[in-house]
Amino acid sequence: MNSADADANIGKRQEVLVRDFPGRRSEIQDLLSILGGPYDFFPPLLVHGAASTGKTSVVKEIFRHLRRPYAYASCRSCHAARILFESIINSLVGHVRSAENGYSSARKCERASDFVEFLPDACEEAIRRSNNESCSSPSNGKASSDELVTVFGNLSWFKRETGVVYLIIDNIDLVRNWSGGQNLLSVLFRLPELSRLPQLGMVFISSVGPHAFTSGTGCRQPLPVYFRDYLDDELFQILVKKQIKSDLYVSFLNAVLKPFSRATRRITELMMLLEPLFEQYCAPVVSGAVLPDEQGKRKLFTLIKPHVRSFLGRASSILAASPGKLLESQGGGRSVISAPASDDQLCDLQLPLCSKYLLLAAYIASTNPATLDAALFDAGNASGSRKRRRRSSLSATEKKENKEMERQLKGPGSFSLERLLAIFSCIATGPGLKLGISAHDNKLDEDAGMEVTSDVLMQLSTLVGVGLISQGLTDPLEGSPKFRCNVEEEAIHMIARSTSFPLAKYLYYNC
Ligand SMILES: Nc1ncnc2c1ncn2[C@@H]1O[C@H](COP(=O)(O)OP(=O)(O)OP(=O)(O)O)[C@@H](O)[C@H]1O
Ligand SMILES: [Mg+2]
Repeated sequence: MNSADADANIGKRQEVLVRDFPGRRSEIQDLLSILGGPYDFFPPLLVHGAASTGKTSVVKEIFRHLRRPYAYASCRSCHAARILFESIINSLVGHVRSAENGYSSARKCERASDFVEFLPDACEEAIRRSNNESCSSPSNGKASSDELVTVFGNLSWFKRETGVVYLIIDNIDLVRNWSGGQNLLSVLFRLPELSRLPQLGMVFISSVGPHAFTSGTGCRQPLPVYFRDYLDDELFQILVKKQIKSDLYVSFLNAVLKPFSRATRRITELMMLLEPLFEQYCAPVVSGAVLPDEQGKRKLFTLIKPHVRSFLGRASSILAASPGKLLESQGGGRSVISAPASDDQLCDLQLPLCSKYLLLAAYIASTNPATLDAALFDAGNASGSRKRRRRSSLSATEKKENKEMERQLKGPGSFSLERLLAIFSCIATGPGLKLGISAHDNKLDEDAGMEVTSDVLMQLSTLVGVGLISQGLTDPLEGSPKFRCNVEEEAIHMIARSTSFPLAKYLYYNC
């Protein structure tokens, strides 16, 4: 195949994927361009986004299309390091555990070192299997074997120019809660170095962003690919695509999707909530009482309206009662376990006001340099200091852009407990909170402000427990532990909005 054919082929594949996954065009394009050709190396990749945004489906489908050697394992089904290691090896060598083989794995991996030892052979087997499946040989982006041998030593399979073997590890965020999770993360993020197999292409999938993985692992941040939430019309297209009886379904969705998408934007939950309602919507057509023509559709809309309200009421109370946990469906007795709530659903979790302010304080501490705290908080208010700086600046926009870029490159910084509590005290008693309290009527006593009490420390410990704030190693100079905020920009702005806190005024790149 010449290079023009190869390009046309890639373009065709991309279009098929984009058609199959409405609303995921830019994510698919980003992933395909990072993955590049079969011989292109790339740094560990982190596909992240809220639940049901198509991370797993899109990544798996991309690799099915690419027909390159890969292994997939999910930390949701593999709940311990040993099981995860064995599952990856099984997937690489094409071993399926069954009654005939006594449900045993291809290799026993008691320790990480066993896994690292078996990996080269398993990768070689994966390549052999992939070559057997696909006879087309790649012609682009081939790294020279001499180059590889110079850089990475004399391993036999580099010389044979075998190309990248991809390891897809899904739900990697769950590993943070495993015993020895930080060590395992450190092994997985450095696997190409530890195993001396630079051709390993590591693709991690997670519902939390990259900064949640760097503290305590000593690893560099993986390269992020963010799957944003779907817009209403994208939800519409996806749901229509999943429904066979699409004509009636389109008019049904036109009538009901908007209010339901305010309760949840997860495809799986929407499908489950809408299914019984759609049955009710279709019932008059099935019984022959209404014809499925334009006039009939108007009648169906009138008939379904009262049901929408009652379904919506039940749906909202179920979703609010069990955020990110267990969702019981109506009537049919089925249940679905949805993913743990991601950053984006924080505001739906109805966090206590104190926790929201702790997260806001943590985000400010993670984002701003500590040297700016005095200027921001001592001088009385943030806007005052901003005005001073603006007058002295000739190219404020340019400076702002530089600061923003620097912040994005650096990722969230770490901070001490003392600094967090100091910022918390400032924002929770300052003018920002007063605005917030008036919007939240009785939640806090406006005059008393919010003191750092044992309750605040307990809330902080809960936030650390659920991973919204992570606790890293103790600073050897200061002797106190360092923390980092794991909440993403979009989510923290949602929290700020929900408390009417003027967050933008306190972020140094806006100053
Ligand atoms: N753009 C899309 N087009 C078609 N189906 C989609 C799309 N996005 C999600 N889905 C469907 O929604 C369901 C959930 O998707 P998927 O499991 O890939 O999400 P996820 O982001 O991996 O969620 P989680 O974080 O819970 O693992 C799947 O049935 C998937 O097919
Ligand atoms: Mg998934």
